[in-house]
Amino acid sequence: MNVISKTFQPGSIAIVTGGGNGLGRQLCLQLAKLGIQVQVADIDNEGAMQTVSFITENGGKAQAHIFDVSNPKACETCVEEIVNTYGKIDLLISNAGKVAIGEFNDVPLESWHNIMDTNFFGQLNIINAVYTHMRQNQKGRIVIMSSVAGLVFQPLTGSYNASKHALVGLACSLFSDAAPHGIKVHLVCPGYIDNTNIFVNAESFRYSSLKIRDILVNKIRGFISPEKATRKILHQIHKNKFFIVFPFNARLLWLLFRLMPETTVRFSYMLKDKMLSAKMNQTLK
Ligand SMILES: NC(=O)c1ccc[n+]([C@@H]2O[C@H](COP(=O)([O-])OP(=O)(O)OC[C@H]3O[C@@H](n4cnc5c(N)ncnc54)[C@H](O)[C@@H]3O)[C@@H](O)[C@H]2O)c1
Repeated sequence: MNVISKTFQPGSIAIVTGGGNGLGRQLCLQLAKLGIQVQVADIDNEGAMQTVSFITENGGKAQAHIFDVSNPKACETCVEEIVNTYGKIDLLISNAGKVAIGEFNDVPLESWHNIMDTNFFGQLNIINAVYTHMRQNQKGRIVIMSSVAGLVFQPLTGSYNASKHALVGLACSLFSDAAPHGIKVHLVCPGYIDNTNIFVNAESFRYSSLKIRDILVNKIRGFISPEKATRKILHQIHKNKFFIVFPFNARLLWLLFRLMPETTVRFSYMLKDKMLSAKMNQTLK
Protein backbone atom coordinates (compact mmCIF):
# COMPACT_ATOMS: atom_id res chain seq x y z
CA MET A 1 0.00 0.00 0.00
CA ASN A 2 2.99 2.35 0.54
CA VAL A 3 3.36 3.39 -3.04
CA ILE A 4 -0.23 4.64 -3.26
CA SER A 5 0.21 7.01 -0.33
CA LYS A 6 1.82 9.36 -2.89
CA THR A 7 -1.70 9.79 -4.26
CA PHE A 8 -3.64 9.29 -1.02
CA GLN A 9 -1.63 11.55 1.25
CA PRO A 10 -1.90 11.36 5.04
CA GLY A 11 -3.91 14.28 6.42
CA SER A 12 -6.12 14.48 3.32
CA ILE A 13 -9.88 14.84 3.78
CA ALA A 14 -12.08 12.31 1.95
CA ILE A 15 -15.87 11.93 1.78
CA VAL A 16 -17.15 8.42 1.06
CA THR A 17 -20.91 8.17 0.48
CA GLY A 18 -22.44 4.80 1.30
CA GLY A 19 -19.53 4.37 3.72
CA GLY A 20 -21.76 2.57 6.22
CA ASN A 21 -21.53 -0.83 4.59
CA GLY A 22 -20.08 -3.05 1.87
CA LEU A 23 -17.64 -1.59 -0.61
CA GLY A 24 -17.98 1.93 0.81
CA ARG A 25 -17.03 0.74 4.30
CA GLN A 26 -13.98 -1.10 2.99
CA LEU A 27 -12.88 2.01 1.06
CA CYS A 28 -13.22 4.04 4.29
CA LEU A 29 -11.11 1.51 6.26
CA GLN A 30 -8.34 1.41 3.66
CA LEU A 31 -8.23 5.20 3.27
CA ALA A 32 -8.06 5.60 7.06
CA LYS A 33 -5.12 3.15 7.17
CA LEU A 34 -3.32 5.48 4.78
CA GLY A 35 -3.76 8.32 7.29
CA ILE A 36 -6.69 9.98 5.53
CA GLN A 37 -9.39 11.61 7.64
CA VAL A 38 -12.55 9.91 6.42
CA GLN A 39 -15.99 11.53 6.34
CA VAL A 40 -18.35 8.56 6.37
CA ALA A 41 -21.61 9.65 4.72
CA ASP A 42 -24.60 7.32 4.82
CA ILE A 43 -28.36 7.27 5.27
CA ASP A 44 -27.89 4.42 7.77
CA ASN A 45 -26.84 5.83 11.14
CA GLU A 46 -25.87 2.47 12.66
CA GLY A 47 -23.77 1.41 9.67
CA ALA A 48 -21.95 4.75 9.49
CA MET A 49 -21.24 4.76 13.24
CA GLN A 50 -19.87 1.21 13.01
CA THR A 51 -17.49 2.22 10.22
CA VAL A 52 -16.33 5.21 12.29
CA SER A 53 -15.80 2.93 15.34
CA PHE A 54 -13.74 0.42 13.32
CA ILE A 55 -11.52 3.27 12.16
CA THR A 56 -11.09 5.10 15.45
CA GLU A 57 -10.51 1.87 17.42
CA ASN A 58 -7.58 1.21 15.09
CA GLY A 59 -6.08 4.67 15.58
CA GLY A 60 -7.58 6.31 12.49
CA LYS A 61 -9.66 9.46 12.14
CA ALA A 62 -13.26 9.47 10.92
CA GLN A 63 -16.55 11.31 11.36
CA ALA A 64 -20.08 10.22 10.45
CA HIS A 65 -22.53 12.33 8.43
CA ILE A 66 -26.04 10.95 8.29
CA PHE A 67 -28.15 12.08 5.34
CA ASP A 68 -29.86 10.94 2.17
CA VAL A 69 -27.81 11.73 -0.95
CA SER A 70 -31.01 12.18 -2.94
CA ASN A 71 -31.60 15.39 -0.93
CA PRO A 72 -29.49 18.13 -2.62
CA LYS A 73 -29.76 20.51 0.36
CA ALA A 74 -28.50 17.80 2.75
CA CYS A 75 -25.50 17.19 0.46
CA GLU A 76 -24.68 20.93 0.41
CA THR A 77 -24.99 21.18 4.18
CA CYS A 78 -22.65 18.22 4.73
CA VAL A 79 -20.03 19.65 2.36
CA GLU A 80 -20.28 23.11 3.99
CA GLU A 81 -19.80 21.57 7.45
CA ILE A 82 -16.71 19.67 6.31
CA VAL A 83 -15.19 22.69 4.54
CA ASN A 84 -15.89 24.91 7.58
CA THR A 85 -14.22 22.38 9.89
CA TYR A 86 -11.22 21.23 7.82
CA GLY A 87 -10.91 23.96 5.19
CA LYS A 88 -10.78 21.49 2.29
CA ILE A 89 -12.01 18.32 0.62
CA ASP A 90 -9.36 16.41 -1.30
CA LEU A 91 -11.30 13.36 -2.38
CA LEU A 92 -14.92 12.39 -2.95
CA ILE A 93 -15.85 8.74 -3.46
CA SER A 94 -19.47 8.90 -4.58
CA ASN A 95 -20.48 5.32 -3.90
CA ALA A 96 -23.96 5.18 -2.28
CA GLY A 97 -26.31 3.06 -4.34
CA LYS A 98 -29.05 0.46 -4.36
CA VAL A 99 -30.81 -1.95 -6.67
CA ALA A 100 -34.37 -3.06 -7.46
CA ILE A 101 -35.02 -6.52 -8.91
CA GLY A 102 -37.83 -7.33 -11.31
CA GLU A 103 -39.01 -7.45 -14.88
CA PHE A 104 -39.81 -4.17 -16.64
CA ASN A 105 -43.54 -4.03 -16.06
CA ASP A 106 -43.45 -5.59 -12.58
CA VAL A 107 -41.33 -2.76 -11.20
CA PRO A 108 -43.61 0.22 -10.45
CA LEU A 109 -42.65 3.63 -11.84
CA GLU A 110 -42.21 4.86 -8.27
CA SER A 111 -39.40 2.35 -7.79
CA TRP A 112 -37.71 3.45 -11.05
CA HIS A 113 -37.75 7.05 -9.77
CA ASN A 114 -36.46 5.94 -6.40
CA ILE A 115 -33.47 4.13 -7.93
CA MET A 116 -32.66 7.08 -10.21
CA ASP A 117 -33.00 9.49 -7.23
CA THR A 118 -30.37 7.61 -5.22
CA ASN A 119 -28.06 6.18 -7.85
CA PHE A 120 -27.98 9.00 -10.38
CA PHE A 121 -29.35 12.21 -8.78
CA GLY A 122 -27.82 11.25 -5.43
CA GLN A 123 -24.36 11.14 -7.03
CA LEU A 124 -25.07 14.30 -9.01
CA ASN A 125 -26.10 16.13 -5.79
CA ILE A 126 -22.99 15.28 -3.80
CA ILE A 127 -20.64 15.77 -6.76
CA ASN A 128 -22.21 19.16 -7.48
CA ALA A 129 -21.75 20.28 -3.87
CA VAL A 130 -18.12 19.10 -3.70
CA TYR A 131 -17.24 20.38 -7.18
CA THR A 132 -18.07 23.99 -6.26
CA HIS A 133 -15.51 23.82 -3.49
CA MET A 134 -12.87 21.89 -5.50
CA ARG A 135 -13.21 24.35 -8.38
CA GLN A 136 -12.44 27.23 -6.03
CA ASN A 137 -9.35 25.36 -4.81
CA GLN A 138 -8.42 24.28 -8.35
CA LYS A 139 -7.72 20.74 -7.18
CA GLY A 140 -9.39 17.55 -6.00
CA ARG A 141 -10.39 14.07 -7.04
CA ILE A 142 -13.88 12.71 -7.70
CA VAL A 143 -14.59 8.98 -7.96
CA ILE A 144 -17.92 7.94 -9.48
CA MET A 145 -19.14 4.44 -8.59
CA SER A 146 -20.99 2.96 -11.53
CA SER A 147 -20.95 -0.77 -12.35
CA VAL A 148 -20.30 -3.09 -15.27
CA ALA A 149 -24.12 -2.85 -15.50
CA GLY A 150 -23.48 0.78 -16.54
CA LEU A 151 -21.31 -0.30 -19.49
CA VAL A 152 -23.26 -3.39 -20.48
CA PHE A 153 -26.32 -4.55 -18.47
CA GLN A 154 -27.57 -7.45 -16.37
CA PRO A 155 -30.95 -9.16 -16.44
CA LEU A 156 -33.83 -8.13 -14.14
CA THR A 157 -32.34 -4.81 -12.98
CA GLY A 158 -33.56 -2.33 -15.59
CA SER A 159 -33.67 0.74 -13.33
CA TYR A 160 -30.24 -0.06 -11.89
CA ASN A 161 -28.76 -0.53 -15.39
CA ALA A 162 -30.27 2.77 -16.54
CA SER A 163 -29.00 4.68 -13.49
CA LYS A 164 -25.50 3.24 -13.85
CA HIS A 165 -25.42 4.03 -17.60
CA ALA A 166 -26.40 7.61 -16.73
CA LEU A 167 -23.42 7.79 -14.37
CA VAL A 168 -21.07 6.73 -17.20
CA GLY A 169 -22.38 9.67 -19.27
CA LEU A 170 -21.97 12.00 -16.30
CA ALA A 171 -18.41 10.82 -15.57
CA CYS A 172 -17.26 11.17 -19.20
CA SER A 173 -18.64 14.75 -19.39
CA LEU A 174 -17.24 15.70 -16.00
CA PHE A 175 -13.78 14.36 -16.89
CA SER A 176 -13.22 16.99 -19.59
CA ASP A 177 -14.99 19.85 -17.77
CA ALA A 178 -13.09 19.23 -14.53
CA ALA A 179 -9.58 18.74 -15.97
CA PRO A 180 -8.83 22.47 -16.60
CA HIS A 181 -9.66 23.13 -12.93
CA GLY A 182 -7.16 20.57 -11.66
CA ILE A 183 -9.93 18.14 -10.67
CA LYS A 184 -9.37 14.49 -11.55
CA VAL A 185 -12.30 12.20 -12.27
CA HIS A 186 -12.39 8.38 -12.15
CA LEU A 187 -15.18 6.06 -13.23
CA VAL A 188 -15.38 2.74 -11.38
CA CYS A 189 -17.31 -0.13 -12.99
CA PRO A 190 -16.95 -3.32 -10.95
CA GLY A 191 -18.49 -6.70 -11.66
CA TYR A 192 -20.13 -8.61 -8.79
CA ILE A 193 -18.79 -7.95 -5.29
CA ASP A 194 -19.49 -10.42 -2.53
CA ASN A 195 -20.55 -9.81 1.09
CA THR A 196 -22.26 -6.48 0.67
CA ASN A 197 -25.86 -5.61 1.50
CA ILE A 198 -26.97 -4.53 -1.95
CA PHE A 199 -29.05 -7.65 -2.61
CA VAL A 200 -30.14 -7.91 1.03
CA ASN A 201 -31.64 -4.39 0.93
CA ALA A 202 -32.93 -4.67 -2.64
CA GLU A 203 -36.56 -3.96 -3.41
CA SER A 204 -37.75 -6.99 -5.33
CA PHE A 205 -40.82 -7.58 -7.41
CA ARG A 206 -42.07 -11.14 -8.07
CA TYR A 207 -38.59 -12.70 -7.66
CA SER A 208 -36.56 -12.91 -4.47
CA SER A 209 -33.42 -10.77 -4.75
CA LEU A 210 -31.42 -13.17 -2.59
CA LYS A 211 -32.33 -16.14 -4.77
CA ILE A 212 -31.42 -14.17 -7.88
CA ARG A 213 -28.13 -13.33 -6.21
CA ASP A 214 -27.47 -17.02 -5.42
CA ILE A 215 -28.08 -17.96 -9.05
CA LEU A 216 -25.71 -15.22 -10.21
CA VAL A 217 -23.06 -16.46 -7.75
CA ASN A 218 -23.37 -19.99 -9.12
CA LYS A 219 -23.52 -18.96 -12.77
CA ILE A 220 -20.87 -16.27 -12.80
CA ARG A 221 -18.43 -17.52 -10.15
CA GLY A 222 -16.54 -14.26 -10.51
CA PHE A 223 -17.61 -12.46 -7.34
CA ILE A 224 -14.76 -10.64 -5.66
CA SER A 225 -14.44 -9.46 -2.07
CA PRO A 226 -14.88 -5.80 -1.06
CA GLU A 227 -11.27 -5.89 0.21
CA LYS A 228 -9.90 -6.98 -3.17
CA ALA A 229 -12.17 -4.53 -4.99
CA THR A 230 -10.91 -1.71 -2.77
CA ARG A 231 -7.25 -2.55 -3.42
CA LYS A 232 -7.95 -2.60 -7.15
CA ILE A 233 -9.81 0.73 -7.07
CA LEU A 234 -7.15 2.55 -5.04
CA HIS A 235 -4.31 1.23 -7.22
CA GLN A 236 -6.06 2.20 -10.44
CA ILE A 237 -6.77 5.69 -9.07
CA HIS A 238 -3.10 5.94 -8.13
CA LYS A 239 -2.23 4.99 -11.73
CA ASN A 240 -4.55 7.82 -12.82
CA LYS A 241 -6.90 5.56 -14.78
CA PHE A 242 -10.26 7.02 -15.79
CA PHE A 243 -12.04 3.75 -16.65
CA ILE A 244 -11.61 1.32 -13.74
CA VAL A 245 -13.30 -1.90 -14.84
CA PHE A 246 -12.73 -5.22 -13.04
CA PRO A 247 -12.50 -8.18 -12.51
CA PHE A 248 -11.45 -9.98 -15.68
CA ASN A 249 -14.96 -11.28 -16.52
CA ALA A 250 -16.36 -7.73 -16.36
CA ARG A 251 -13.65 -6.47 -18.74
CA LEU A 252 -14.34 -9.39 -21.07
CA LEU A 253 -18.08 -8.69 -21.10
CA TRP A 254 -17.43 -5.01 -21.80
CA LEU A 255 -15.10 -5.94 -24.68
CA LEU A 256 -17.67 -8.36 -26.14
CA PHE A 257 -20.35 -5.70 -25.91
CA ARG A 258 -18.22 -3.20 -27.83
CA LEU A 259 -17.24 -5.76 -30.47
CA MET A 260 -20.58 -7.57 -30.80
CA PRO A 261 -23.42 -5.58 -29.18
CA GLU A 262 -26.16 -7.55 -30.93
CA THR A 263 -24.79 -10.94 -29.82
CA THR A 264 -24.20 -9.70 -26.26
CA VAL A 265 -27.80 -8.48 -25.93
CA ARG A 266 -29.05 -11.85 -27.17
CA PHE A 267 -26.72 -13.66 -24.75
CA SER A 268 -28.19 -11.65 -21.88
CA TYR A 269 -31.66 -12.66 -23.01
CA MET A 270 -30.55 -16.33 -22.88
CA LEU A 271 -29.07 -15.84 -19.40
CA LYS A 272 -32.30 -14.29 -18.15
CA ASP A 273 -34.31 -17.02 -19.79
CA LYS A 274 -32.17 -19.61 -18.02
CA MET A 275 -32.56 -17.83 -14.69
CA LEU A 276 -36.32 -17.76 -15.09
CA SER A 277 -36.65 -21.19 -16.63
CA ALA A 278 -39.57 -23.28 -15.38
CA LYS A 279 -37.39 -25.30 -13.03
CA MET A 280 -35.67 -22.34 -11.46
CA ASN A 281 -38.86 -20.30 -11.40
CA GLN A 282 -40.18 -22.41 -8.55
CA THR A 283 -37.18 -21.56 -6.40
CA LEU A 284 -37.08 -17.89 -7.37
CA LYS A 285 -40.41 -16.74 -6.01
N1 LIG B 1 -22.17 -5.34 -4.81
C1 LIG B 1 -21.93 -5.40 -6.11
O1 LIG B 1 -21.90 -6.49 -6.70
C2 LIG B 1 -21.65 -4.14 -6.88
C3 LIG B 1 -21.16 -4.25 -8.19
C4 LIG B 1 -20.92 -3.10 -8.92
C5 LIG B 1 -21.15 -1.85 -8.35
N2 LIG B 1 -21.61 -1.78 -7.09
C6 LIG B 1 -21.87 -0.42 -6.55
O2 LIG B 1 -21.10 -0.23 -5.38
C7 LIG B 1 -21.79 0.71 -4.52
C8 LIG B 1 -21.85 0.13 -3.11
O3 LIG B 1 -22.65 -1.04 -3.15
P1 LIG B 1 -22.52 -2.23 -2.09
O4 LIG B 1 -22.60 -3.48 -2.86
O5 LIG B 1 -21.39 -1.97 -1.16
O6 LIG B 1 -23.94 -2.04 -1.35
P2 LIG B 1 -24.32 -1.95 0.20
O7 LIG B 1 -25.81 -2.00 0.22
O8 LIG B 1 -23.58 -2.92 1.02
O9 LIG B 1 -23.84 -0.48 0.57
C9 LIG B 1 -24.47 0.67 0.07
C10 LIG B 1 -24.46 1.76 1.12
O10 LIG B 1 -25.11 2.91 0.57
C11 LIG B 1 -25.98 3.45 1.55
N3 LIG B 1 -27.06 4.20 0.91
C12 LIG B 1 -28.06 3.67 0.13
N4 LIG B 1 -28.89 4.64 -0.25
C13 LIG B 1 -28.41 5.81 0.28
C14 LIG B 1 -28.84 7.16 0.22
N5 LIG B 1 -29.95 7.51 -0.45
N6 LIG B 1 -28.10 8.11 0.87
C15 LIG B 1 -26.99 7.76 1.55
N7 LIG B 1 -26.54 6.49 1.65
C16 LIG B 1 -27.24 5.53 1.01
C17 LIG B 1 -26.51 2.23 2.30
O11 LIG B 1 -27.05 2.57 3.57
C18 LIG B 1 -25.26 1.37 2.38
O12 LIG B 1 -24.50 1.64 3.54
C19 LIG B 1 -23.16 0.95 -5.16
O13 LIG B 1 -23.15 2.16 -5.89
C20 LIG B 1 -23.31 -0.22 -6.11
O14 LIG B 1 -24.16 0.06 -7.19
C21 LIG B 1 -21.87 -2.88 -6.33
